[in-house]
Amino acid sequence: MTAPIRIPVGLGDRSYDVLVGPGVRHLLPEILAASLPSPPGRVAVVTGEGIGTDVAVGDAVGEVGNFIIPGGERSKTLATVEELCRALARFGLTRADAVVAVGGGLVTDVAGFAAAVYHRGVPVVFVSTTLLGQIDAAIGGKTGVNLPEGKNLVGAFWQPSLVLCDTEVLATLPAAEYRSGLGEMAKYHFLGSAGSEPIDAAAMAALPLPERIARCVRLKAEIVASDERESGRRMLLNYGHTLAHALEIAGGFGLRHGEAVAVGLVYAAEVALRLGRIDGDRVAEHRQVVSVYGLSASLPEGIEAGELIDLFGRDKKAVGELTLVLDGPRGPEPVRGVDRVVLAEALEAIR
Ligand SMILES: NC(=O)c1ccc[n+]([C@@H]2O[C@H](COP(=O)([O-])OP(=O)(O)OC[C@H]3O[C@@H](n4cnc5c(N)ncnc54)[C@H](O)[C@@H]3O)[C@@H](O)[C@H]2O)c1
Repeated sequence: MTAPIRIPVGLGDRSYDVLVGPGVRHLLPEILAASLPSPPGRVAVVTGEGIGTDVAVGDAVGEVGNFIIPGGERSKTLATVEELCRALARFGLTRADAVVAVGGGLVTDVAGFAAAVYHRGVPVVFVSTTLLGQIDAAIGGKTGVNLPEGKNLVGAFWQPSLVLCDTEVLATLPAAEYRSGLGEMAKYHFLGSAGSEPIDAAAMAALPLPERIARCVRLKAEIVASDERESGRRMLLNYGHTLAHALEIAGGFGLRHGEAVAVGLVYAAEVALRLGRIDGDRVAEHRQVVSVYGLSASLPEGIEAGELIDLFGRDKKAVGELTLVLDGPRGPEPVRGVDRVVLAEALEAIR
């Protein structure tokens, strides 16, 4: 196995490493043996239906339990968390033990939240198996589930102890799920900062996949380390998400989350153009980046502008007035109170 790329997430006594590379899941036994208390306790391996990634925890662990949560966003509920916590209790998991969550954002959000609340918090390791999970969901400690009233409305900040991003397991990922990850990857192109290398889409395409993933992880790690609880800068990670969430609430239109984010990035650029924050070249750059990743920048057919704009306000991140993350001379930043006419005109520009 080639040496993994190691990216530290610097959060004081809650700091951890993200390891990226082909086969990194096979490092888990060694890492667990080195980090679990002696004698090693129990490990609960939680995965999702149909994921099928093999993960061994090694002989140092006293007892291993396997738990499967149902697939699909509809099972991302408090009921699933209760079922899982009850199963962990029957297994006898204690705070001296650990959870290993193996899956995409759905599994890491649910198992991460269960780990945050079970016995008031047990250590959790994420073995992330989707591109979106590896560059986004598994990093930064946001965990949670949906309510009928909205997505991710109940949750906790609970940092993992380690994240393994094994690029080998992405070989089995369905094409639409891979594209979804590329939408989030496109977003990072616009979020470069002084502390991290710029992410240029064309240059990125020439890099090996582990390095591409690592660049995104570095940027997310740096943003999370500077604003763990999303009181400011972490909001930038929502770039492109206002329209994306509205499209998802309006029915998805067959778009996966990251595909909707790609449309949302170009939409945000069109709004910023109309507010005089950026010029036409920068809008063209947004379109170019999205197209380098092979993603569409157009609204799906058959959706009414008024309905989408009404949905913008239902985003849980909207505090008081509608806030959009918009590009500008200093890069993307939150902007309040954008006029409805501008929002509608920009929607017409992406039809
Ligand atoms: N916590 C965060 O910061 C954060 C950030 C972004 C998204 N999310 C959440 O992540 C979830 C979406 O995550 P996702 O896009 O990873 O989707 P997902 O976890 O739902 O997985 C998508 C599909 O791929 C399958 N799959 C996963 N790994 C596979 C593999 N290696 N091979 C074959 N099939 C595999 C799954 O079974 C599922 O059917 C949403 O619930 C979203 O809210 C959380």
